[in-house]
Amino acid sequence: MQVTVVDHPLIKQKITKMRAEHTSSRDFRECLDEIAMLMTYEVARNLPLQEVEVATPVAKTTGYKVAGDIFVVPILRAGLGLLTGVLKMIPDARVGFIGLYRDEETLKPIEYYCKLPDNKDGVTIVVDPMLATGGSAAAAISMLKARGLKNIRFMCLVAAPEGVKVMNDEHPDVPVYTAALDEKLNEHGYIVPGLGDAGDRIFGTH
Ligand code: PRP
Ligand code: URA
Repeated sequence: MQVTVVDHPLIKQKITKMRAEHTSSRDFRECLDEIAMLMTYEVARNLPLQEVEVATPVAKTTGYKVAGDIFVVPILRAGLGLLTGVLKMIPDARVGFIGLYRDEETLKPIEYYCKLPDNKDGVTIVVDPMLATGGSAAAAISMLKARGLKNIRFMCLVAAPEGVKVMNDEHPDVPVYTAALDEKLNEHGYIVPGLGDAGDRIFGTH
């Protein structure tokens, strides 16, 4: 499985602000939105293109558009924090939603919502800021595959080695793009050093 750490000075600076415990929800959301835009550049690098004719004020020439459908699927809730940034870069993308939360005791993902586009042919970008045990991402991708979606890639902000291993074991065909690969999980399943509970920090619910 391919893991790409999207390494860029602006991303490093913004993620540092997000890690800081006293950063406000407003600043946290803003940095997440900006990182999503920057990361989309890399996640979309090898999207298929088709040629189109374009008339400039001077002459006709050949231009390009992304071929086929792009689906963006945030894992609720925290995945919503990445959605707007991706859509700013890929405005024609269709959006599906998967609702999962981690049971606090077992750390296993519990499904509560799924709404996906009807068309299944295209490239799917699953987004969630945190890849911790990997249970949520692996379950979401299994749900997508079971419903016929193919050509899936996963985009997150912070990944733990444990989550990367689960993705590699369960979905070796799905490339993972992350802004940071952190050290480990703690005994509560939180990423260390991480940034805490992403959903709570985005939505101000802690
Ligand atoms: C967080 C995060 C991921 C999941 C990662 O969601 O947004 O979905 O935990 O952990 P895992 O890799 O161990 O499964 P959470 O369950 O806190 O729900 P929320 O997005 O509603 O806050
Ligand atoms: N989910 C989060 O939001 N943060 C973590 O560190 C782990 C799972």
